[in-house]
Formats: sequence, C-alpha cells, structure tokens
Amino acid sequence: MRVSGTVRVPGDKSISHRALMFAALGDGQSRVSRILNSADVRSTAGVLRAMGVGIPELSADFVVEGRGLRGLQTPSTDLDCGNSGTTARLMSGIVAAQHFSARLVGDESLSRRPMGRVARPLAAMGASFEMSAGERLPMTVHGAELEKVEWDNANSSAQVKSAILLAGACGGVEAVVREPVPSRDHTERMLAARGAEVWVNDRTVMLWPVTSLVALDVAVPGDPSSAAFFAALAGLASEGSITLPDVCLNATRTGFFFALARMGVRLEVDDERTEGGETVGDVVAAPNALRGIVVEAAEVPAMIDELPMLACLATRADGETTVRGASELRVKESDRIAAVVSNLRAVGADADELPDGFVVRGSRTPLRGRVVTHGDHRLAMAFGVLGALPGNEIAVDDPSCVDVSYPGFWRDLAAVVA
Ligand code: S3P
Repeated sequence: MRVSGTVRVPGDKSISHRALMFAALGDGQSRVSRILNSADVRSTAGVLRAMGVGIPELSADFVVEGRGLRGLQTPSTDLDCGNSGTTARLMSGIVAAQHFSARLVGDESLSRRPMGRVARPLAAMGASFEMSAGERLPMTVHGAELEKVEWDNANSSAQVKSAILLAGACGGVEAVVREPVPSRDHTERMLAARGAEVWVNDRTVMLWPVTSLVALDVAVPGDPSSAAFFAALAGLASEGSITLPDVCLNATRTGFFFALARMGVRLEVDDERTEGGETVGDVVAAPNALRGIVVEAAEVPAMIDELPMLACLATRADGETTVRGASELRVKESDRIAAVVSNLRAVGADADELPDGFVVRGSRTPLRGRVVTHGDHRLAMAFGVLGALPGNEIAVDDPSCVDVSYPGFWRDLAAVVA
C-alpha cells in the first residue's frame, strides 16, 4: 500500500481543554486559536459557560473574557462532562476552590470511571464530595477555603496532578505533587506562562500561592495522539510517506514516536521550534520492516493514549510486542487492555492480556471481522488504521465515536491511502 500526503491533525486535546480553563480563570481577555473543536472540548466549554464564562461557539479563533481565579458563578444546572475524563477531573479541582457547590455528571462511559483519585487530594485540601457508589459520577463538589497540600500521585495521572494544581491556584494555596514517572505537564507550563511560580524537579511539581493569573493568548499545536495514527499508518505501508505539520512534541507526549522508531518506522522531525511554551515540529513518517518491542512502565505515561495503536501496529511486526506497567488503560474510556485484546482476537490476530498490559505476536495473516469499540474513540481509530491495510477487512461498530477527539479522522484517513 502506498501512502502520500500531508495531514494537518486537529489541535491537541489536553492543551485545548486547558486553554479554555485558563482563559476563564485569567484576568482579562485571552484569544484562543486552532482549538480542537471536538465533543470532549465542547464539554469543557459547556461546563465553563454553565459557571458564567462567556465562551462563544468554538471556532478557529475566538476570545474568552476571563473571570479571575474565584469569579465563577454558581451553576443553575448539572455540569455535563459528556465522555470527557479531563473535563470532569480538572473541573473538580477548579470547583473545589469556588464559593459554591456543583454536581458533575457524564455519559455512561465516564460514569464508570474512578473519581476518588481526584476527590481524595481535593478533600485533603478542604473540599467535600458526594459521589455515587464506587466513587463515580454523578459527583457533587462542595467548594471551600482550601489549605495547602502535598500529594503522591501514584498513578502518574496528569488529570489528578492538574486538578490539584488548579485547586491550589484557584484557592491561593501551595500545592506539591509527586509522581513516579512525570506525566504530561501542560498545566504546569500554562500556570508558569501566566505568572505563577511553578518549580518542577523531575518527579515533583510545586506551585506557590498565587492571587491572580494574567490573560494569555494560546495557539493550540497539533495533537501528537492524533498524529500517532497517521505515523503508524505510514509505518505499516509499503511505500510513500505522510507529513504531519505543527505537531506538539512536548517530551511528556512523544513516547509513541520513540516506540515507532524502535519498531523500525522511519521518522524525521523538521523545523523543530518553540511556540507558546510548547515544542512543535513537522513529523514525516515512512515505512520500513517492523520488529516487536518491549515497553516498560517508565515509558507508559508519555504514550498512554497511543497504546491501542501500538497493539494494532504490533500485529504486523516481526516477533512479539509486550507492554507492561499500563494498568491505567483499564480505566480509560473503555478497559483498553480487555477491549484491544478481545478485538484483536476477533479479527484473527494473536494477542493476550496481561494484568497491566498485553502481548501481541505479529504475522502476515489477513485480519477480518467486526470491532466493538464500546464508544471508545481511540479504539475506533486504531482499528480503522489496521483496516486500511490491503487484505484486512475490519468493520468498526461505531465509527462516529471518533468525534470525541478527531471529528475529521475518516476523511483524513481516506485522503492519504487513496
Ligand atoms: C489527559 C491525561 C491522561 C490521558 C487523557 C488526557 C490530560 O489521563 O489519558 O487522554 O489531558 O491530562 P490520566 O491523567 O488519567 O493518565
């Protein structure tokens, strides 16, 4: 199969959520451009609007009027986080420091995901919570005067770290978060860029008390987690290349590109530069013979969302690919260990679950069958890439679930394999 062309992937999802939140919490107007206009980011916009923030309909370029760190208004409705874990968890941190209570709700998938991991540190800071059985949504957050906190973020969850840092910022208190492996650091970068004092030492992040954040414009770079699907597709092709301009290459996000290179994919980064406090570059990916690799726990946070794609890629590598230390995959939009392995088997691939990861053995067998996504966007896209290979015939049960992070995915996929 020949691939060719340029895919301008949409804006980074993590940065898009945070761009809206920090614009809402800043003093004055912030311009946001190239935001990801997807279902998840619209959930964040909707929640902020429900608390009085003037956010126009998301478009290529718009302005948000900040309300300051404690200027949000008591919502008159539930805060609907849709399918978005980032919305639910980061908003919990923001609400924890406001002078009101709010009830967070989500769709069926989000209502199965753990919220105790954010409620515990925020309760240690002084907020209180009512959660549904199993520490799930719906969850009411009662805001309070917060106290300083030091927290071990044992799962290296950027959402938990960000909730604590946002609560610390909104509450005007010190917050210290330690994690075994550094997770994505967009929140720290945005805080620092807006005048907060943030000290980062490998595994520890410290935020000093702040009284306000300045407004700052954000141009959202391309999402490496979306680019990952096309870099993988190029690696699976037999000839050609795919160019992915303006991709965020923050070192806490690029683990998958390193894994691809280890598997043999030819990768090049052109015009690496810093834009708005993030490293950005143009990625060019081209095919090569693929070999299996081992991914260990320390590498997982920097490629957590790309592991379904890695598993699919491994079906065409020589030998075995093993991922360990990734039990967090079990609490994503679906149980991504169980769902990836059962779907790989359903289409005829050789894969096994591990408690904290998976093993996939590569082959040339044509893969055919129907994939059950459980509404999980990253499963739909990973199997979509696998299904684009000649000889494979893979039907995805719910193609529209890609709208959560990449609404134009199927169109972009068709354009590079045509
Ligand atoms: C995200 C953090 C990660 C990631 C999610 C987005 C973020 O989740 O899987 O897609 O924007 O902070 P965890 O923090 O739970 O690992």
